[in-house]
Amino acid sequence: MNALRHCACSIVLALLCWHVAAARASDVPYVPTPMNVVDAMLALGGVGPGDYLIDLGSGDGRISIRAATRFGTRGMGVDLEAHLVNSANDDAKKQGIADKVTFAVRNLFDTDLGRATVITAYLFHSVNLRLRPLLFEQLKPGTRIVTHDFDFGDWPPDQKLTIDVPDKAYGPPRSDIMLWVIPANFAGTWQWPVAGSATHELRLEQKFQMPVGAAMAQGRPSRLGEARIKGDTVSFTLTGEAGVQRYSGRISGNVISGTVVLRDGDPPLPWRAERIKTGKINIGNMSGSINALRQVAASSPLKER
Ligand SMILES: C[S@@+](CC[C@H](N)C(=O)[O-])C[C@H]1O[C@@H](n2cnc3c(N)ncnc32)[C@H](O)[C@@H]1O
Repeated sequence: MNALRHCACSIVLALLCWHVAAARASDVPYVPTPMNVVDAMLALGGVGPGDYLIDLGSGDGRISIRAATRFGTRGMGVDLEAHLVNSANDDAKKQGIADKVTFAVRNLFDTDLGRATVITAYLFHSVNLRLRPLLFEQLKPGTRIVTHDFDFGDWPPDQKLTIDVPDKAYGPPRSDIMLWVIPANFAGTWQWPVAGSATHELRLEQKFQMPVGAAMAQGRPSRLGEARIKGDTVSFTLTGEAGVQRYSGRISGNVISGTVVLRDGDPPLPWRAERIKTGKINIGNMSGSINALRQVAASSPLKER
């Protein structure tokens, strides 16, 4: 009898948990992105016909629908509000692009992001910060993320612009639009020969898309400068006694292939570096992010509860 009661209680508890999860309150209220901001977001993300765009918290679907009607972009949107998802799917049908974009009632945190080449989001900082590790875990290097007004704390955007929005529903009549590109992992120790002579070595650490490091060129310390990572490409200079060498290349596994200019004015030569020791991308800690969040929260037009 006790076992039966125990079993019944477990079933009731499981059902309750399922109901609470299913009725999970939205993390952000619905506020549509004005259409001039949508267009600016698509332009900043360089969205085109070859992209697969996922709008996280898609509302009435306007971002994905605009990308599909303007550029033929495929994609999907997820939202917790069934009435918004229904209206987005109806609109996609009306506009004749239902074969390109679909909308589903789903928690954005339970959404598989791996197929995306572009992610768009108009969510709170706190939600972006919870999302951040998932983006690094699931997205391919080179995937663009475009947000409206809210950033990712101490992960600096690759590009940011502010545009006038005369019909903005909240706060000052302007919007920030930001772009991030998921970086490949360049961290570790790289070696290569130059002009057949002694090995160059570069030890790189990487925080988000920002590389820092120390280099040895032909056995002598060399200063690393102008280091940039964008998606799967890297560029940097090494400055030593012989002058400035300019490197740029693309990563594939543990190899970078590209070109080097050994002296200003020289033609570029082929460059191939091998990683002899791998490292990890530092994607920051949450306490740094929470501090950044506190600083910006006071000035956010769309207030977090
Ligand atoms: C500020 S609106 C943005 C709507 C649309 N992306 C746009 O820019 O016009 C945020 C949307 O996220 C949805 N949302 C909030 N929390 C969510 C979650 N955990 N999973 C999926 N959608 C969520 C809300 O229902 C709302 O429609």
